[in-house]
This record gives sequence, structure tokens and C-alpha cells, in this order.
Amino acid sequence: MYFFCIFALTKTENAMIDQATVQKILDAADIVDVVSDFVTLKRRGANFVGLCPFHNDRNPSFYVSRAKGYCKCFSCGKGGSAVGFIMEHQQMTYVEALRYLAAKYHIEIEEREMTSEERQRQSEREAMLMVNEWACDYFEHQLHDTSAGQDIGMAYFRERGFGDAIIKRFRLGYSSEGRSALYDAAVKAGFNRKVLFDVGLCIDDERGGGYDRFRGRVIFPIFNVAGKVVGFGGRTLRGDKAKYVNSPESIVYNKRNELYGLFQAKREMTKQGKCFIVEGYADVISMHQAGFENVIASSGTALTEGHIHQIHRFTENITELFDGDAAGVHAAMRGVDMLLEQGMNIKILVLPDDDDPDSFSRKHTSDEVRRFIDDHETDFIRFKTSVLLQGTGDDPIKRTEAITEVVKSIAVIPQPIKRSVYAKECASMFDVDEQMILREIQKYVLAKRDADWKRREREKNLRDLPSTTTPPAEDHEANDTVTTTIPPPSGSTEIKKQSTAFERCEREVIRLVAKYGMCFYCNTTYDDGVTSPTTVTEFIYNETTADGITFRTPLYNRIFEIAIDHLDKFYEDLEQLTSQLNDQAAVKVAQKLAEIDVTGHTAESIENEEKKIRSAVAKEVEDNIAIFRANYLERILCSAENDEVRNAAYDMVTERYRLSKIHSLWGSVASGVERLKPLVNSALNVWRLTVVMHKAQELERRIQSTDIDEGLRLMAELDRTKRLLADLSKASGERVVVPPIST
Ligand code: CTP
Ligand code: MN
Repeated sequence: MYFFCIFALTKTENAMIDQATVQKILDAADIVDVVSDFVTLKRRGANFVGLCPFHNDRNPSFYVSRAKGYCKCFSCGKGGSAVGFIMEHQQMTYVEALRYLAAKYHIEIEEREMTSEERQRQSEREAMLMVNEWACDYFEHQLHDTSAGQDIGMAYFRERGFGDAIIKRFRLGYSSEGRSALYDAAVKAGFNRKVLFDVGLCIDDERGGGYDRFRGRVIFPIFNVAGKVVGFGGRTLRGDKAKYVNSPESIVYNKRNELYGLFQAKREMTKQGKCFIVEGYADVISMHQAGFENVIASSGTALTEGHIHQIHRFTENITELFDGDAAGVHAAMRGVDMLLEQGMNIKILVLPDDDDPDSFSRKHTSDEVRRFIDDHETDFIRFKTSVLLQGTGDDPIKRTEAITEVVKSIAVIPQPIKRSVYAKECASMFDVDEQMILREIQKYVLAKRDADWKRREREKNLRDLPSTTTPPAEDHEANDTVTTTIPPPSGSTEIKKQSTAFERCEREVIRLVAKYGMCFYCNTTYDDGVTSPTTVTEFIYNETTADGITFRTPLYNRIFEIAIDHLDKFYEDLEQLTSQLNDQAAVKVAQKLAEIDVTGHTAESIENEEKKIRSAVAKEVEDNIAIFRANYLERILCSAENDEVRNAAYDMVTERYRLSKIHSLWGSVASGVERLKPLVNSALNVWRLTVVMHKAQELERRIQSTDIDEGLRLMAELDRTKRLLADLSKASGERVVVPPIST
């Protein structure tokens, strides 16, 4: 009964936001970013720490793991995924928290019961993406397989030094001179005119036909972060007035959010923990080709907040590359405060005179570029200070103005510690009193806080959301004993949770599902002779089905069902990721092979080198897949709509660490996965034992109160059960501690 109750609840609550949008919001929500709006965080190793917003915290005990996507206080135990944190901290419902996050990340919320207009918009979006994908193919085909493409487009790319691999990777193309070549081909392929005009590939000639926007240009497709083609940039080869023509804004292409190269760069951005920002298409491509794959471009415009949110999902360390001329230095100063304000760490790299990243990376070897970066990358505040200082001489008024400029930049930095570090540096560079700088900074900080507060109040009133409740002030350590208790199901108080033996052993099995459910467990050969790789979830499913046991605890049963329900989607996502990683790996191997220095080496040593490269890249792919698997279900469950599921999952995946040393917290995925087999086996065996022991007890009880015939039959069964019990105990070895039966 309780079971149906959850189902019903899920349905009605869910009706408000459609699933794809929920997923989009959960994907976009970066836990560090979300928590940072309320807690000042500091990096500690792979994680971030700050003062817990849920209790009176004197030492930072609130940990945030970007990789895991959740936060947790190791003193009071509170925390959650991004959505869980917002619910708790802002006292919002699930849907309210989603709306909050959607607004934060500029995600349009699509209602599940879409109006016909919205439905049309949705299908319009899909149609637009489809025609873009088709056109991307078309342009590639033009480049690679036509003589004009080869003679004009490819010749141009070659002249710019772009190799085959990079051309393929960025799916560069060519659009022929014909007035309506693409238009005609697209119409012939069955696309309707309107969608061609909507995405801006073609322009309506008002005579029932259309002509091509990009004709006679080389094509740079623009991918969104998920790899979908949302627009194109086309560069003229004839010196037209407009060097570049770009796709217009559309419902699939929002210039304020898209960064050129992000799709290709995001992995390396996470891996290296930083990114480089350049100006244009060619800069990105040349840098990638030179082996700098964490390079993205804002395509000639200033960075927007939308861009920052995109970048923040992968790293918070940005180095902006600028041309060496005066305009470049000038540009370096503009727009950076906005980045600082978002808590990003900004460095500036000014290239030598007359060079842009494209020309610079082609003129020098990768090592030289790397060395130049290492030597010349300058922290933004230091950069700004020294540039301004240079222009002042001894003029006290100019010096004061310069100091004010720098102080304003420092004041927007959200992290107080970072501000004070800069204050010190600024004071010493200007040779003035540090306290004075600090006071000056504080003035701006307070003014800003005031303005922010007023703005937030205004917004709050506008949205008419429930007001922020102050976090509970009492010390939670006192009632820490309740931390592993599953909260009672909302709205069905008649269900009283008992911590029975069943619940305990089922909980351990479910904990392993929540934490490692999509990890590889073993290869299973099924009855039909097919062998396939099996996840922990599938293994447990197979075992329990064979044993005929099921979860008695409704909540655990529900969680297990969610895990099973997600298997198909998981395999789909896994396949996509794998092919993507393999593609990237192939490019990487090719690049590294090309870099091998063959002079003075024997064929054998070169071959060895090659082997090493291949296995290193393969290992990287493997690691990435392992991480993906390990995080998959955890993320879904910890952001689940159902309160019980979300809270229980969150408790389970974090509790192991409650008692362990905080430093190793959320450290390596591998450490848990390696211990997987004994953990799963032991948990299953304890569960089996419990089930069988329970059955034996039940039989003994029934034997006492039955007639002789039935009694004899039951005793035979009891005998069998006890033998099974003995076998199980033996099989499970000494690790298994049988919990007492308390039903
Ligand atoms: N840009 C644009 N439209 C223009 C000029 C520039 O969209 N009319 C954008 C492009 O994204 C371009 C970037 O601004 O890549 C930088 O412009 P610019 O430095 O002029 O171009 P480069 O990328 O250096 O192009 P190229 O090297 O091919 O001349
Ligand atoms: Mn250029």
C-alpha cells in the first residue's frame, strides 16, 4: 500500500517539470558553484571546504566534492546533491529547488504538459538540430570529396597548417560558391524551407527560394557542450568585408552561452584543472593541434556570465591569452572583473608583439609554447597593478586613481582570504600601507553586499518564494546518533520503521547498489551462451532472482527498481561516452605518435615508445569509464525527486567516510571498486543467511503448533533449510557476521 503511495506521489509532483529538463538542470548544476552562493569555499585537495551553513561551525567541516556532485558536513551530517542542498538550505520543495537552479543556470523550464505551442517549439528545436547536423555533414563532404573543396577549402586549411586529424576533429567544412547549393540539396533531402531560414543556413529570397548564407566560405561548425551542432562560422577566402559570417541567434544557438571548442576541450579542462581562453576559431584549432586541448574561444565577443557558468562546470582556473599589441593589453583589462566576481582564478598571458595564439603556436614547438606560458602567465591582479603602476610615474593623483582601480577589482572577489592576499601584494607593489588598502577594499565589499542584498530581496519578492529560513543554530553533534536512521516516509506516518535484521542487511546491499551500481562486476554467461559484461546492479538482480529473494524494505525495493530502470539509459550513455573517448584517444595517439623524436633511436625503441603511448592513452580511457560508471547511479539517486530515496541514497553513499579520516575523503574511485567483489559477496551472503535463518525460525515455530503429519513435513523442510544454512555459512567464510534475528 505504501508502495503505491510513493508512485502516486512521484507522478503528481513530477507533472510540473519534464524529465529532460530536470536532467538538464541536474547536469548543469555544479555543486561548488551552487554552494558557493551561500558558503565561502576554499580548495582542499580534490575538494572544497567551508564553514557549515547548517550549524554553528567554528572550524570548516563542510566538504564539497565537485567530482561527486555533493556536499556534506562532517560534523552535523547535513548536505546533499545540488538540489538537496538548495532544498535544505533554502527550505524549498524539490520543484522549487529545481526552479531555483534552472534560473541560476538560465535553463528554460519545460512543463511536462506542454502547450501545443511549446510542443511545437520542442519539435522545432529538434528539427533545427537535425538540419544543422545534416549541413555539417554536407560541408564536410564538400570539403573532402569535391574538387572545389579540395582546391579552395582544403588548400586554405593546409596553408594555415591544419592537419587531417584536427580538420576531422573540429569537423571543418567548405561551402561552395553556388548561390543556393546547400539550399537545393537540403530541400531535396526533405528539409522544409522554414527550418533552413530559422537556423540561418539560408536566407529567404522572397521569391519562393533561398540562398546560402555561407557560400564560398570555409566552415567552422559550432558545437554546444553536448556536441550538438548549434551554429556555424564561415570565413571568407576572398577578402570580403565580413571576414567571418556566423549563424544568427536561434532557439538552438545562444551566443551568450556557447564557447567555441568547449565540447572538444572540456575533458582536458577538468583533467588539467584550467583552461585557456583565446579569441577566435583559428586560435582554438591551432592550439589544439599543438597539443593544448584545454583551449576555448568566446568567438570575438566579451565573456558573459553564461560563458562563465559553462566554464565553471569544468574548472575555475582561466588563463586569457591576448595579442601582444597595445590593444591586446587594453583588452586584457576589460571584462575581467566579472570573472573575478564569479570566483574564478584569472591569469593573463600576453603574447609577443604581432602574434595571436594561432600564429604563435604555429611558429613554435609545443615545448616552447609551454615554456612561454609557464614563464609569462601572470595573475590578473598583479598584471593590472603593474600595468597601471607603469603609467603613473610619481604623480600622486594618478597613483591614487590606479590604486582605486586595482582595489575595485580586488573587492569583487568573493573569497575573503583571496582578497586579503591581494591586498598585501597590492600594498607592496604600490608601496603603501596594507591596512589602508584593506579598509578601502572593505568599503567596496560592503557597498557591494548591500547592493546584492537589495537586489536579491527584490528578486525574492518578485518570485514570491518562501523566505529563507535561518539555519538551525543548535549543535547537531549532540544528536549524531540519528544520522543513519531513514527518515519516516512523508505523508504515511502509519509505516513505522524498525531497524530489523532484514533492514540492516538489505541496506548494505542497497548501499552497494547506490554507490557502485553501474560499476563493472564480472562477465556473465547466460543460458543462451551469450557472455556479457555485468554491472553490480545486474549481478545482484541475477543472484537474488535465482535465490528467490526480494527486498522487504519498501524503500530499498524502490531504490533497486530505480537502478534497474536506469540500466538501459546507462548502457546507451556508456556507449556514447565510450565511442567519444575512443575517438579522442585515437586523435591523441596520432598526435603523440607524430611527436616521437625518431632521430638516433632504434626501430625497437621507437616501437616500445609507441606501445607505451598506446597503453597510456588506453589506460586513460579506461579510468574515465570507471569514473563514469562509479558516479552514474549515485548522482541519479542523490538527486531523486522522492525525499526518502534521495535522503537514504545520500546517507548511504557518504556514510562510510563519516568515521574515516577526512583527508582521504572521496579520494580515489578505484579504491572502492577494487574491494567490490568481497563487499558484494559478503553483503549478499549475509542477506541470504538472514533470509534462511528467518525461515528456519519460522519453521521451528510452526512445528510447535501443528499436527504430527504437517509437523513431519515441516521438519524435513527445516532439515533442508539448516543444511543450506550451514553451506551458506561455510561459503561466506569468516568475514560474515550474522546479525541476530529480531523479527
Ligand atoms: N569574428 C566574427 N566576425 C568577424 C570578425 C571576427 O565573428 N567579422 C570572431 C571570430 O570568431 C573570429 C574572432 O572573432 O575567430 C577573432 O577575430 P579575428 O582575430 O579577426 O579573426 P581570426 O580568428 O584571427 O581569423 P583569421 O586568423 O582567420 O584571420
Ligand atoms: Mn588570426
